[in-house]
Amino acid sequence: MVAGNWKMNTTVLEGIALARAVSELCTPGMVVEVAVFPPFPHLWPVRGALGVGPVLLGAQDVFWEDSGAYTGEVSASMLAGWCDLVLVGHSERRHLLGETDAETGRKFAAGLRHGLGVIVAVGETGDERDAGSTFTVIDRQLDAALSAVDEPPPTGAWLVAYEPVWAIGTGRTASPEQADEVCAHIRDHVAERTAADAPRVLYGGSVSADNAAELFSRASIDGGLIGGASLRPDQFARIVAAAANAAR
Ligand code: 13P
Repeated sequence: MVAGNWKMNTTVLEGIALARAVSELCTPGMVVEVAVFPPFPHLWPVRGALGVGPVLLGAQDVFWEDSGAYTGEVSASMLAGWCDLVLVGHSERRHLLGETDAETGRKFAAGLRHGLGVIVAVGETGDERDAGSTFTVIDRQLDAALSAVDEPPPTGAWLVAYEPVWAIGTGRTASPEQADEVCAHIRDHVAERTAADAPRVLYGGSVSADNAAELFSRASIDGGLIGGASLRPDQFARIVAAAANAAR
């Protein structure tokens, strides 16, 4: 899967144009799943722009309750049926907005409860990596998500995105070896904890048209969660092509 996280970018018209450009890259039955994550107010018009094509539509966040007095929040029940995916635990939510592991877990559970595919983002900060605690942090974040659900979700119902915080928006990509090592660890940890096959594991953090092929060639990396480069159709097209080559 190659997923474009647009973050808090694009006007609604730019979002529609970008969605159309992404749609043009994709044909039904292609070997790579492609997804876009526009800002909340653009989800509905982007749904229209994507039409019945194969591009999946995702929300960048979700709230854990279904309805009620939660000003500003959007629930999974509001997205279910016309959105395909939801992203939870992005590092910008964890670190800029103070979202806890437990809150991410509740969001994970809410998305699954409503039949949305959920991408759980995990990743260590630069200090945590330097302190040698990368795996401890990743395991804690994964365990918090999995403890929020009664049963481990079926493999196809969710994905993990490994996004080292120090590599997001910095131009400092994890090396393919570093990314592959952590993605392999995620796979093993989930398989051990759930006694089920691990879901697909994506890498995110300064993925570009120039480094995507090498990242996607690694055995444990099943695709990418793309920030900045997903706003540029030419770049995003090259990243999708790199994933398609790697999948063949
Ligand atoms: P960049 O690709 O801009 O580093 O962002 C990665 C990311 O956070 C995707 O969710």
